[in-house]
Amino acid sequence: MKKHIALVPGDGIGVDIVGEAVKVLDRIQEKFGHEFTYSTYLAGGCAIDATGKPLPEETLKGCAESDSIILGAVGGPKWDKLPSEIRPEKALLGLRGELGLFCNLRPAIIYKQLSEACPLKPEIVGDGLDIMVVRELTGGIYFGERGRDENSAYDTMRYTVAEIERIVRKGFEIAQKRTKRMCSVDKANILNSSQLWREIVERLAPEYPDVSVSHLYVDNAAMQLIRNPRQFDVIVTGNLFGDILSDEASQITGSIGMLPSASLREDSFGMYEPIHGSAPDIAGKNIANPIATILSVGMMLRYTFGLTAEADAVEEAVSKVLDASYRTADIYSEGMKLVGTKEMGDLIAQAL
Ligand SMILES: NC(=O)c1ccc[n+]([C@@H]2O[C@H](COP(=O)([O-])OP(=O)(O)OC[C@H]3O[C@@H](n4cnc5c(N)ncnc54)[C@H](O)[C@@H]3O)[C@@H](O)[C@H]2O)c1
Repeated sequence: MKKHIALVPGDGIGVDIVGEAVKVLDRIQEKFGHEFTYSTYLAGGCAIDATGKPLPEETLKGCAESDSIILGAVGGPKWDKLPSEIRPEKALLGLRGELGLFCNLRPAIIYKQLSEACPLKPEIVGDGLDIMVVRELTGGIYFGERGRDENSAYDTMRYTVAEIERIVRKGFEIAQKRTKRMCSVDKANILNSSQLWREIVERLAPEYPDVSVSHLYVDNAAMQLIRNPRQFDVIVTGNLFGDILSDEASQITGSIGMLPSASLREDSFGMYEPIHGSAPDIAGKNIANPIATILSVGMMLRYTFGLTAEADAVEEAVSKVLDASYRTADIYSEGMKLVGTKEMGDLIAQAL
């Protein structure tokens, strides 16, 4: 298979970790006989410095013409005081909005090798956790009408039937490939947009008879994630609720440097990135954990290129390296072998 991949390292550790992801992709192409080519683009703070814009046209065009995107992270204290229209985060919203990446997948997995990092009691998480949060990414309150005057400010949560249907269908389809349980999260006791959301989930459910559906209000869902996270498999929800719940779910795993994400379009074109930020405190020091980005590559192979064996191989290689006790500083515990960003990338590529 021939594919052209847009690399958008961004700022801070983005630069350190995207290089390791490419190492792993290069090994995959050798091993499985594919041809991956790359172009690198600026976005975020580095793009503001170079061009005055967080998302230069060249980046947007290059990403749109690629087969898939791997992004590191954007932002840092250097750009924190800029007005909101030219903040680094605008690059992310711009890429998601302009490329129609409406479906955000965020797995929250507790690896058995790292179970002691989970902040919950062992009897609550049992022998592991594997939750997939499916979040609507280009609608709802982050994109609705907003305004401000001297005495008030407002944001609007508006969803169309089509926007809800397409994300709920993705939720059902993903649930079908997992344990066939989907929990839809809303605030239908108060919000009109949530009542429409719930009606649509109920209307579509008969088309997916193999999936068992439940509903939770978002406040209860936030509580249940801590009280009994194992009840969840797929959680499907809107933009605002998904933003908060996916961060909560990731904290349960205790390892921010381990969690990948995908943002997909209808035709499965996607942008893949770790869930963490640009970690300016450790940038350029060869200590960042590259595994979240490497697992994002695994998601890209699975969801955009349909290369299941290759994706499984990436995940197995990560597991093998953890089994062999190699750890970056963020997941290190006594008795383990401490390695840097580059060494971790090399080890995973070798394990492939
Ligand atoms: N998607 C994105 O690009 C994204 C997401 C979140 C935050 N940000 C931006 O990143 C900057 C820093 O934000 P923050 O400090 O709130 O969050 P962060 O995720 O960058 O860092 C939080 C903590 O986790 C550590 N950490 C994060 N990733 C790590 C990794 N791979 N390996 C080891 N340690 C890791 C950091 O050192 C830090 O102590 C801000 O400018 C923020 O706006 C960007």
